[in-house]
Amino acid sequence: MVYDLFSTAFKADPFATFARMRQDDPIYAHHAPNGSTIWYVTRYEDVVAMLRDNVHFVKDIRHALPPEQLNPARRTNTHQLINENMLFADPPDHTRLRGLVNQAFTPRRIENLRPRLQQFAHTLLDRVTPFGQMDLIADYALPLPVAMIADLLGIPEGDREQVAEWSQAIISPGSRGHSYKVRKQKIKGLLAYLSALFKERELRPRDDLITALVQAESSGDRLSETELSSMVALLIVTGHETTVNLIGNGAFALIQNPEQLALLQENPTLWGPAVEELLRYDGPVETSTTRWVGQTVVYKGHTMQRGDVVRLVFSSANRDTAAFPYPDHLDIGRSENKHLAFGLGIHYCLGAPLARLEGEIALHTLFSRFPHLQLLTNPNRLTWRSGVLFRGLNHLYLRL
Ligand code: HEM
Repeated sequence: MVYDLFSTAFKADPFATFARMRQDDPIYAHHAPNGSTIWYVTRYEDVVAMLRDNVHFVKDIRHALPPEQLNPARRTNTHQLINENMLFADPPDHTRLRGLVNQAFTPRRIENLRPRLQQFAHTLLDRVTPFGQMDLIADYALPLPVAMIADLLGIPEGDREQVAEWSQAIISPGSRGHSYKVRKQKIKGLLAYLSALFKERELRPRDDLITALVQAESSGDRLSETELSSMVALLIVTGHETTVNLIGNGAFALIQNPEQLALLQENPTLWGPAVEELLRYDGPVETSTTRWVGQTVVYKGHTMQRGDVVRLVFSSANRDTAAFPYPDHLDIGRSENKHLAFGLGIHYCLGAPLARLEGEIALHTLFSRFPHLQLLTNPNRLTWRSGVLFRGLNHLYLRL
């Protein structure tokens, strides 16, 4: 059986395909035209097992391929900026990087964002109110997390437009639209800017994440400038690509399930569990980032060769009947909800507390101000972002 995991039709309803895969091909080998093998793993139990196995399934390509097979582009600034961070590292590098960043990414720092987040949610909704309608994605779901990441990092207001312009080079799908030369120039601009900002914060510390990252130290060890830039790039990317989909997919799911929305409107204390259920039901990250088979392994009868790519399909595992009763039902009262929307194990999402706070405030504020939101597009005609990594709407036009 061949599964088409890239077509527009698949993206409109991936869950039917994932259900077939879980049933018939839970560990499915896709043979790419370049000869490489990509394994798609769709059952909850297998996804969990592989997320916990950091010996056979690794994140750093150097632990899976011999040096002669590594792409020479690895040494470029662009590659380093995007890849030299904890998400693409294995222990002990991962342990060191995450430990240093954890010092800066404190619960207090996240909680301090709450009033600003609440206020900005209202500002964005005030802007669209006179029009009686909006594109939820462009007008609300995207600007909110983007502004929060800039606030958290401490990027001065006056620089944000320029930083956003340079950041296009590292954020999809904009990055694909740029020529190599333009992309290189933008990355150079971003790197030079960040380098100056790191120096500035070292000399004149402030209460922001960049200062905390610059100062983070453990046993005399600090983050190098490349590691600092790559960490900031990772935060810029996650700030643009993930929470936007929690707000977009979440609002869409609640509009489609008015009886669940009514429960929330009667009892706002349910917003916390509701966000967890929305993450499970239609979460922002469809598959894991790339894992590599680090040592050839026979898993449930499948020989996974060293160097093969593995993608763990979170959106499928979260709909597995073996883990969740009636998984295709949105049920904000679900009692045990061990969803995998934030992954699991050592790479469990660092930003989960921030994403939860953003999702809850954004959705609660939206539906409190506009309790009768209506879709302006037939749900079957909505378009979803391409690619297997993220799950999110391109637009969601709503009547307020
Ligand atoms: C609802 C929004 C979000 C979702 C669903 C999400 C999901 C995930 C997932 C599934 C992973 C693990 C990927 C893997 O194992 O392949 C991850 C890792 C990560 N996320 Fe998030 N994320 C979200 C928001 C954020 C935000 C807002 C930030 C930063 C402020 C962030 C920062 C990170 C970082 C740094 C990692 C790498 C952790 C590591 O490798 O140890 N995420 N995220």
